[in-house]
Amino acid sequence: ADPIPTTVTSCSALVKCPLQCVCQIRPWYTPRSAYREAATVDCNDLFITAVPEDLPAGTHTLLLQSNNIARLEQSELDYLRNLTELDLSQNSFSNVWDFGLKSMPQLLSLHLEENRLTELPDSSFPGLSSLQELYLNHNQLRRIAPRAFAGLSSLLRLHLNSNLLQMVDSRWFQMLPSLEILMIGGNRVDAILDMNFRPLSNLRSLVLAGMNLREISDFALEGLRSLESLSFYDNKLVTVPKRALQRVPSLKFLDLNKNPLQRVRQSDFTNMLHLKELGLNNMEELVSIDKFALINLPELTKLDVTNNPKLSFIHPNAFHHLPQMETLMLNNNALSALHKQTVESLPNLQEISIHSNPIRCDCVIRWVNSTETRIRFIEPQSTLCAEPPDLKRRHIRDVPFREMTDRCLPLISTQSFPSRLEVMDGDNISLHCRAMAEPDPEIYWVTPSGVKLIPYAHDGRYKVHPEGTLEIMGISAQEAGLYTCVAHNLLGADTKRITVLVNSSFPHSEASLELVVLDIQPYHILLTWKPHLNAVSSNLTWSSFLLSSSLDTTNVARIPLGTHAYNITRLHQDTEYWACLHVAFVDLQAKVACINARTKEATRHHRFLGDRQCLLTLLALSILLLATGLVARLISHKPTPCSFPLLPPLLAAIPQSEAEGMDGSHMGQTEQKWQQ
Ligand SMILES: *[C@@H]1O[C@H](CO)[C@@H](O)[C@H](O)[C@H]1NC(C)=O
Ligand SMILES: *[C@@H]1O[C@H](CO)[C@@H](O)[C@H](O)[C@H]1NC(C)=O
Ligand SMILES: *[C@@H]1O[C@H](CO)[C@@H](O)[C@H](O)[C@H]1NC(C)=O
Ligand SMILES: *[C@@H]1O[C@H](CO)[C@@H](O)[C@H](O)[C@H]1NC(C)=O
Ligand SMILES: *[C@@H]1O[C@H](CO)[C@@H](O)[C@H](O)[C@H]1NC(C)=O
Ligand SMILES: *[C@@H]1O[C@H](CO)[C@@H](O)[C@H](O)[C@H]1NC(C)=O
Repeated sequence: ADPIPTTVTSCSALVKCPLQCVCQIRPWYTPRSAYREAATVDCNDLFITAVPEDLPAGTHTLLLQSNNIARLEQSELDYLRNLTELDLSQNSFSNVWDFGLKSMPQLLSLHLEENRLTELPDSSFPGLSSLQELYLNHNQLRRIAPRAFAGLSSLLRLHLNSNLLQMVDSRWFQMLPSLEILMIGGNRVDAILDMNFRPLSNLRSLVLAGMNLREISDFALEGLRSLESLSFYDNKLVTVPKRALQRVPSLKFLDLNKNPLQRVRQSDFTNMLHLKELGLNNMEELVSIDKFALINLPELTKLDVTNNPKLSFIHPNAFHHLPQMETLMLNNNALSALHKQTVESLPNLQEISIHSNPIRCDCVIRWVNSTETRIRFIEPQSTLCAEPPDLKRRHIRDVPFREMTDRCLPLISTQSFPSRLEVMDGDNISLHCRAMAEPDPEIYWVTPSGVKLIPYAHDGRYKVHPEGTLEIMGISAQEAGLYTCVAHNLLGADTKRITVLVNSSFPHSEASLELVVLDIQPYHILLTWKPHLNAVSSNLTWSSFLLSSSLDTTNVARIPLGTHAYNITRLHQDTEYWACLHVAFVDLQAKVACINARTKEATRHHRFLGDRQCLLTLLALSILLLATGLVARLISHKPTPCSFPLLPPLLAAIPQSEAEGMDGSHMGQTEQKWQQ
């Protein structure tokens, strides 16, 4: 069939256009985005197996996408002296020698994506000395020789994404001194080595998405001094590669979306002087943005932290010195609130998005309704209260916050850690407990054996961070069991538990409960007991035998977890008492241990007794006992012969602030009575 002649409007004369192709002038942009009008021959989607013959001599852009071409000779294109862009994507090339483009010094743009190339040998693209764009994405490239790109000294843009590469070789880049854009994502590369991109001093944009990267070494990004945009989208990074990022001085846009980060930690983003936008979206594991996570980012204008289903905590001081921050996107997280301080720390904030979070409309979020708020809420219609029940689904801006108290109880976020975790013997684990309240809550953890772990105190392989994360280095099978987080402020406490199974099991406590009298005085009795594995709750009850039972009802005190001693105060002198400890365990069992003891007779002698020797003996004994952890086992049931009211080391074991049963006012009353 004869080609049907059509006009190419750029030429004054009639030019033949090959059958089924479309020849017209189309807008065209150079790789540096300069606009041109280009004589374009569009032969896309024709299922042809060879380049059509007799193309218009003035062809600038030749589109041969989605055909079945597997070979191409230089002679087939030789006469197209002005050919600038050649699109051979979605064809059947399997070998780089099958497109014999030996000399096309005018070609700027070559598309070879979605072919079947498996390998690029040395000097794969000879004679393309002006080439600026090369698209090789979506092939099956497993190997690229060190000098594959030799001669491409003008190349600005290289797309190698979605191939089968297993390593990124810095020698490739020595041939590409002008490169500005490199897309290499979607290759299963284990590691980016130090100095991997060093020759690319002109690179402006680097995409390392979907590569399975677990770690970025400290010098991996060395030499990228012009880099402005960097994407680590969809990798396996568990921490922010902060040292590597420090070596990219010009960075403006950073995408860390879809990585399994659990926390954004202190100083993760620091002193990045040109950073304008940061993305921390779609992170399944992200729980918390810790104190001083972002520090001194003088040009940051937009922070995107959205669609993180566990993100339940942003520290009031998470941000420090972000003077240009205008837009804070926090929608679709698990945030119950955002602190006023967080917002106030951003002097230039214009708009904020917190819709689609389980917002608790109480004191923490009260600032939303303050008249000083100059901040625009994005999608106010869907910014709703999730709690308390009576405000559910109310628009947050309509809530009459003024009537509320400015203090509220801590509530531990249900998203921050699971109720059950299975790990292997020797694993390092991190449990993130976060709570928001006013005033800020303090957090501690209690181990299965009842040991209380407080922030900053290093207890062997346990470490509690002030925000509430418990880290256990190399957990052993004996340490499996019930871990409890307690968040408390002056209004009260909230607890949340997690059962940690090591190698699919955890030990049960076999030992029986044992209650021991540590000290007896006329008006108080100090009891102690051995910590029990996996206790869920403990109560202490006591009553006297003698006093009329109708008047003297049984007293109950809830024992805070991690407490193993209790001072029963306001007792009557010389009276027989009966006390019982009730402990409920994680497996729904309960145990009770009881003891009886008689308070002493109040005498003058009592108050001024000062037997130094006895005190020292008792002190030494108690220190020894605490050190060996055998308090309960070694102390006899009989009251000790010494009668000193205070044993300093034991005192330390009794929490003062949050002891729910140890009411300071009661103690005061007892003391008054004592002095009468
Ligand atoms: C190729 O481009 C040059 C400069 O734009 C032009 O003068 C020349 O006519 C073109 N060649 C053909 C065959 O159209
Ligand atoms: C605060 O809430 C009241 C409704 O109780 C509303 O009328 C008022 O406009 C709100 N103020 C601001 C600044 O949003
Ligand atoms: C636990 O952490 C330590 C110190 O960071 C590390 O050396 C060790 O390999 C880790 N163990 C596991 C099982 O990941
Ligand atoms: C736990 O399981 C791991 C892997 O199966 C095994 O190497 C280890 O010895 C087990 N530890 C205990 C205490 O059973
Ligand atoms: C302790 O008392 C609380 C409140 O009365 C109760 O819910 C809990 O079951 C008691 N625990 C034990 C172990 O008796
Ligand atoms: C127990 O309470 C009494 C009376 O309040 C007090 O004097 C004594 O120091 C307390 N003992 C301990 C160990 O706290």
